[in-house]
Amino acid sequence: MPAAQASLDLAPVLDTVQRLDHDAIERLKAFLRIPSVSTDPAFAGETRRAAEWAAAQLREIGFRVEVVNTKGHPMVLAHHDGPKGASGSPRILYYGHYDVQPADPLELWTSPAFEPVIVEGHPINGKKDGPKGQRIVARGAVDDKGQVMSFIEAFRAWHTTHGTLPCAVTVMLEGEEESGSKSLDPFVKEYAKALAADICVVSDTGMWDITTPAITTMLRGLVYVEVTLHGPSHDLHSGMYGGTLVNPINALATIIGQLHDGDRRVQIPGFYDDVAPLPASIRDQWSKLGFDEKEYLGEAGVSVPFGEKNYSTMERMWSRPTCDCNGIFGGYTGKGAKTVIGAHATVKLSCRLVANQSPEKVFAGISRFFQDRCPPGCRIEIESHGMSPAIAVPADSAWLRAAQRGLAKVFGKEAAVIGTGGSIPAVGLLQRELGIDSLLVGFGLDDDRVHSPNEKFELACFRNGIRSHAAMLAEFANVVSH
Ligand code: BES
Ligand code: ZN
Repeated sequence: MPAAQASLDLAPVLDTVQRLDHDAIERLKAFLRIPSVSTDPAFAGETRRAAEWAAAQLREIGFRVEVVNTKGHPMVLAHHDGPKGASGSPRILYYGHYDVQPADPLELWTSPAFEPVIVEGHPINGKKDGPKGQRIVARGAVDDKGQVMSFIEAFRAWHTTHGTLPCAVTVMLEGEEESGSKSLDPFVKEYAKALAADICVVSDTGMWDITTPAITTMLRGLVYVEVTLHGPSHDLHSGMYGGTLVNPINALATIIGQLHDGDRRVQIPGFYDDVAPLPASIRDQWSKLGFDEKEYLGEAGVSVPFGEKNYSTMERMWSRPTCDCNGIFGGYTGKGAKTVIGAHATVKLSCRLVANQSPEKVFAGISRFFQDRCPPGCRIEIESHGMSPAIAVPADSAWLRAAQRGLAKVFGKEAAVIGTGGSIPAVGLLQRELGIDSLLVGFGLDDDRVHSPNEKFELACFRNGIRSHAAMLAEFANVVSH
C-alpha cells in the first residue's frame, strides 16, 4: 500500500456517512425536484439546472468542475487529485446520468413525480413477510439520481473525514442517457485525456436482492427507430374512402404483425446471423443464482411468461435479442369516436442486441423489412433515435475483486455476478474509444419501477450504496494501477 494512503481509514468515513444521513436524503430530494427530462425540449432549462446542481455538489467537496456544453445537454466533468504525494495511485472514473425519463402517464403517480416523498413499503425481493423499509418516491429516484448521489455522498464522507479521497477521481455525468446519448461520442473523443482512468465505476444497475449486492458484467445493446407509413395526403372520411384505398394504420399493423413468427423469433433479415450462443459456463453460473420467475413476472402483474421458444426467461432477459414496439399512433386518438382514415401511422420500435450483433446491420435490416412491405403508393420514413452494441466487461479482474472486498464489508457477503437486459451506451463507448473497462455496481431492485410511474429507491439501498462506494474507494486505492 502506498505510504500516503496508510492513514486514510475507512471506519471513520462510515461514521461520517451515518452522521450525514439526514442531510444526504435532503440533498437527494433537492436533486429529484429538478425535472431533467432529456428527451423533451420543453425541459431543456431544467435539465441544465440539474447539471449545474450536481456540479455545485462536487465543487463543494473539493473537485475542480466544468459544465461542458454540447449540441444537446451539458456534461458535468469533475476531477479530484486524491491524496497528495500518492503518485501511482489509481485513477477512477465515475459515470452516471442526471437526466430522467418522462414522468408520463402522470395520473398514475400516487404523488407528483418531481415532488419526492418518503413512504413505507415492502420491497418484493426483501420478501413480503420481511420488515418494511422507507423508500423515496420520485422520477429518477433510482435511475439514476439516487445512484449518482450514492457515490457523491461517499466522496463527501471521505472529504469531510480526511480532507481528501483515497484515489484520484474523475466524474463524468451525462444528461442524455435516457434519450440516446448522442453528444457522448464527440465529448469522449474531445476529452479523452481528461477522462483517462484505470477503470470506470458505473452505478446505474441493480442488486440481486435487497441483501445481496451485484456486479453486472453483460449489458444488451439497443437500436431505436421511429417508422412512419405515409398514405393519403390528408385524413379522410372513412365512409367515403374506407375500403377503397390504403389505410396506413392497418398497413403498418400488418407489417408489425410479421416482425415475429409463431415461435416468437424475430423475422428481420439477418437478425440472428451474428448472435453467439451463451457460453455453457455462464448459463451454469446464472442457473445457480436462484432466479425466481414467478416473482419477476408477478412484479409486472403477469402470471405467464412469453417469448422466444426454447429459451428460459432468464436467458431471454439477459442474453437474447428482441424486437419490441414501444409506442404506436396515427389517426384519431382523442375521446369518443371519429370516423377517419388517417394520413399516416407511426411506430416507435426498439431492438435489444446481444454480443456480436452490429447495430448498423440491425438498423439496415429493420429499414429493409419495412421498405420491402410498403404498400404501393405509400412511403416509409425511418428516423433513428440512437444505437449502441451489447457489451461484456471482464467478469474477473483486480478491480472486480477490490469491489467484491468493499461490498463484502458492507453486506457481509459476496456480490452476485450478473447480466442485465438494459443498456448503458457510455460503457461501450468508453471501452471502444478509450480502452477503459467499467465496473457496474448498482443498488436498484427489480421492483423499483424504473421508467414507470411511482419510481422509488429504498433508503436502505441508498445508504448501503453510499457505504459501498466509500468502502470500494478504499479498496481501489490498494490496486496497483498500470
Ligand atoms: N439504468 C438504465 C439501464 C438499466 C435498466 C440497467 C435496467 C439495469 C436494469 C438506463 O438508464 C436506461 O434505462 N438505459 C436505456 C438506454 C437507452 C435509452 C439507450 C435503456 O436501457 O432503455
Ligand atoms: Zn439509468
